[in-house]
Amino acid sequence: MSSSPIYIETASAPTNIATIKYWGKADAKWNTPINDSVSVTLDQADLKAVTTAAASLSFEKDRLWLNGVEEEGAAENKRFRACVDGVMALATDKVDPKTGEVLVKKEDWKKMHVHISSYNTFPTAAGLASSAAGYAALVAAMMFLVGAKEEYPGQFSTIARQGSGSACRSLYGGFVAWRKGGDKPDWSDSMAQQVADENHWPEIRAVIMVVSDEKKDTSSTSGMSTSVATSELLKHRAANVVSKRMEAIEKAFLAKDFESFGQLTMADSNQFHATCLDTYPPIFYMNDVSKSIIRILHAYNAWAGELRSAYTYDAGPNAVIFTLDKYVVEVGALMLHYYPEFGENYISNPEFGTKIKEFKLDEGLLEATKKTGRTPVAGQVKMMYYTKSGPGPQLLTDQILNLDPKTGLNTYKP
Ligand code: DP6
Repeated sequence: MSSSPIYIETASAPTNIATIKYWGKADAKWNTPINDSVSVTLDQADLKAVTTAAASLSFEKDRLWLNGVEEEGAAENKRFRACVDGVMALATDKVDPKTGEVLVKKEDWKKMHVHISSYNTFPTAAGLASSAAGYAALVAAMMFLVGAKEEYPGQFSTIARQGSGSACRSLYGGFVAWRKGGDKPDWSDSMAQQVADENHWPEIRAVIMVVSDEKKDTSSTSGMSTSVATSELLKHRAANVVSKRMEAIEKAFLAKDFESFGQLTMADSNQFHATCLDTYPPIFYMNDVSKSIIRILHAYNAWAGELRSAYTYDAGPNAVIFTLDKYVVEVGALMLHYYPEFGENYISNPEFGTKIKEFKLDEGLLEATKKTGRTPVAGQVKMMYYTKSGPGPQLLTDQILNLDPKTGLNTYKP
């Protein structure tokens, strides 16, 4: 091992759940969408990706470890390269804060190889936007490592977008839009923009029902390419539906109007899954358990005489249920009633677990939801997460490292 120093930083990044969905690419090379989308950034206390990035002249090649396992050939992967090289191009001089001495000149970062080690605190590729958190954490860790500076606001999100489209929205907290762009030849205007930060509507809550934690059948990338090629409904959606919904949902979020926010969220999830069914051959992301959750939540809202819960499903069977602080225990208790506890740590948050177990559901509500045909069965839902909206990526300075600072080799074990 040569004596060249190893520079190292660790960042965490959140996942996000779209309420107006991105589905379909306008330009595969730049990874840009056919329509705008918007999402809620989830709290990293519950779900996050944690990534350590190290750079050194002593490293022989770029290397990547995901959840403790090395990914062979990662350095040639187009998405990985776009993120690493994209941030490297914005590097600045690294200066010793005490002496003012330049330790690394900005042009010298590129001469080094990088080692990256990343893990998720939630199931990978189960439709819980793990790629969004993963690429956002990669861009964030690289940013902190090389002291990168944006040349225009939102530039880092254009880099994360090339890792995974939805990752661009994970670079900000709260409620975040991805403007599709397209006026610039290099698509530098296809970027994320924060609509409101995580403190704007602090009462928003999410309950996530993990219907399956296995890897999904059709990846988003291949699914959306078949949809673009075959679905008339997707064309109609991009041309005539999404821009109106974007305007309405951003307004609803800013006005804290849960009725409109929830209605648009559910309608857009349903339309996204309708475009999947309209794809030829069709793609099925929701299963019968997912659909039973939809029926129960509609029955719940109807019983309440107001919209108290709103579901949304990404490219997988898991339900993300948005609600408000004042109803979240009722929503959680209702879900626990129909999808009873299964195994240890069924409920991510023990305090929330105690509250929903103690909550007495209204008899009328049980009557109303029973009519959906659902009877309580354990095992079809593997886990319940309780979470809220949270901030964008964080620099972790408290010595949480996934790489050994002396050797640059992975230390993370699942
Ligand atoms: C259904 O961002 O995973 O979650 O850009 O090909 O990596 P790539 O796709 P990805 O697609 C996410 C699709 C979605 C909707 C959304 O998050 O907007």
